Amino acid sequence: MSSRPVIRCESVYKVFGVNAKKMLQGVRGNVDAKTFQEAGCIVGVNNASFEVSKGEMLVVMGLSGSGKSTLLRCISRLTDATAGKIYIEGQDLLALKNKELIELRRNKMGMVFQSFALLPHKTVLENIAFPLQIKGMKTEESISKAMEMVKLVGLDGRENYFPRELSGGQQQRVGIARSLAVEPDIWFLDEPFSALDPLIRKEMQDEFLRLQGSLKKTIMFVTHDFDEALRLADRIAIMKDGIIEQLDTPANIVLNPATEYVRKFTQEVPREKVLKIESVMEPMSDSKNLSDLKVSKDAIIETVAEKILGQEKPVAVIDSNNKVVGIVEPSKVIHTVFGGRKESS
Ligand SMILES: Nc1ncnc2c1ncn2[C@@H]1O[C@H](COP(=O)(O)OP(=O)(O)OP(=O)(O)O)[C@@H](O)[C@H]1O
Ligand SMILES: [Mg+2]
Repeated sequence: MSSRPVIRCESVYKVFGVNAKKMLQGVRGNVDAKTFQEAGCIVGVNNASFEVSKGEMLVVMGLSGSGKSTLLRCISRLTDATAGKIYIEGQDLLALKNKELIELRRNKMGMVFQSFALLPHKTVLENIAFPLQIKGMKTEESISKAMEMVKLVGLDGRENYFPRELSGGQQQRVGIARSLAVEPDIWFLDEPFSALDPLIRKEMQDEFLRLQGSLKKTIMFVTHDFDEALRLADRIAIMKDGIIEQLDTPANIVLNPATEYVRKFTQEVPREKVLKIESVMEPMSDSKNLSDLKVSKDAIIETVAEKILGQEKPVAVIDSNNKVVGIVEPSKVIHTVFGGRKESS
């Protein structure tokens, strides 16, 4: 296992308002958002502590105003946390000098903002190539790399347009392409797919998963969309009023919600979308006559349910070394998919 987490937050607070620091000290970190608001302070992030390990994708979810963007902005130090410690690969982020911070951002971190933040006087291609040129890449090389990215996000033919000539979703794709081009190790994405229509959104998710499968970046990804979170996340953090109510695997969030809020948030989520085959697997027994189909123990049930339901005999479950580790009965899958949805709370 990798030792040091790539991102580590210890009791991070972000409170907006002139007396924020003082008030925070006054309550010794015991922040009540209401009391603060009455005193003219807005709580953005309230005592966030967590780690993200190398290659992990942490998805941050929560309603509008719950503090998702603020948390991301603190960790990328676009804003300074009011209190707490943030470490990036062991480096104390808040202790970095301006120059070191710029270096870190340029070479390690990538960001895709909720607002697209494109340069209005540069074309699509120039927007994407610009950060590469800042890093010292030759113009020609940067343009050809940028063109690759343009194709990747499906904007070929529009590379010479200006941002104002693009739709919101197209601008968002330029933002994604620009950030991807730099190949950052740590990637902060704030609702990167929110302006895309469902079909393109799904395509971008697939593309994103494919890329992540080979690139294994450390990612914090903000979304409103639980389906998106379930598709992408290794772990999910659910925020409410600046507080991380639960940070856990998708399956645990759905099956063992830590708070009433999380339970409400997840109660509509069908179990087959989060449960792995492993959770419905039974021990192998010699006498069983198996079907020819084999499924991975790590497959999400939903993705293989149809195939399994087409079998008459039990299906072999294999691990990553193709070793049979158990069997799954089609009837068990039927039960998970169609039964028990109401009783899940
Ligand atoms: N610069 C700021 N000054 C004062 N308050 C702010 C500032 N930025 C954010 N806030 C407040 O902090 C809280 C969290 O905002 P944030 O933008 O992080 O929410 P969010 O979860 O990203 O919401 P959304 O889903 O709408 O993007 C909100 O109450 C917001 O009004
Ligand atoms: Mg936001």
